[in-house]
Amino acid sequence: MSAFLNKVVVITGGSEGIGKALVDAMLQEGAKVATCGRNYDKLYQLQSNYPGKPLLIHTADVSRESDCSLFIDKVIAAFGTIDILINNAGISMRALFQDTELDTIRRVMDINFWGTVNCTKFALPHVLANQGTIVAVSSIAGYRGLPGRSGYSASKYAVNGWMEALRTELLNSGTNVMWVCPGFTTSNIRNVALNALGKSQGESPMDEGKMMSAEECAQHILTAIRKRKRTLVLTFTGKRTVFLNRFFPALADKLVRNFFFKNNVLVK
Ligand SMILES: NC(=O)c1ccc[n+]([C@@H]2O[C@H](COP(=O)([O-])OP(=O)(O)OC[C@H]3O[C@@H](n4cnc5c(N)ncnc54)[C@H](OP(=O)(O)O)[C@@H]3O)[C@@H](O)[C@H]2O)c1
Repeated sequence: MSAFLNKVVVITGGSEGIGKALVDAMLQEGAKVATCGRNYDKLYQLQSNYPGKPLLIHTADVSRESDCSLFIDKVIAAFGTIDILINNAGISMRALFQDTELDTIRRVMDINFWGTVNCTKFALPHVLANQGTIVAVSSIAGYRGLPGRSGYSASKYAVNGWMEALRTELLNSGTNVMWVCPGFTTSNIRNVALNALGKSQGESPMDEGKMMSAEECAQHILTAIRKRKRTLVLTFTGKRTVFLNRFFPALADKLVRNFFFKNNVLVK
């Protein structure tokens, strides 16, 4: 029998990419799933893929505290409790800091960091009552600052530190707190990453087909939740980057610089 059967699982940002794959995987495991996003049409389309399945959709921007409060209220009204919260909703950016409007960085922080804090605040009493699990989908950029993604890296470092503090506070509560750091994963994230002025890039600078699939990433996350892991770092490149940055940070500076720049121009 699946460990997720009849569990209530809240997944933010379930209309695309890793979140969508998590919704699909959790529904297949027999969970009751609730998800949110800013675009109603995408959520409606998602729901129409699962007729008769226990999937709640709700339009919410996780950077807004009131949206998160209403979302969690709606989940409780529909399902009565929450076992697992997966803070997945996130956006990226791609621009050198010297060119970037401060509002662009603020927007990324508001969604990636504050979105995680907001949803966790309202869901926590319910998860605690069930000795469940709180997950944050962070990034390798939460262990190693990445050029062109200064705001994104800051938001993911903030998520990791905040989750580590929360984990320690809840260590004897029976609730597991875990942060997941995917490597490059096929999704919409690089298409909609903000440029210096805070607008969508509209294209990915990388070959999305050569990355880990969102479905494989979701399966790793489900396994880690089941095993009540502390952290999960994904992909060979992701693990190597975290290792090198920890033990050989100056070498990591050069390797990361070479990966993202060609002829002194940011190309990825
Ligand atoms: N893909 C990768 O290579 C990669 C690597 C490491 C970490 N991650 C992390 O994985 C998570 C999922 O990313 P992804 O790659 O699957 O991206 P994605 O394909 O762009 O999907 C992002 C999802 O989040 C939702 N979302 C974005 N901003 C939101 C907001 N303010 N409020 C509510 N929902 C919001 C989007 O829906 P709407 O636009 O309709 O709101 C969408 O459903 C993110 O936290 C990301 O940082 C991704």
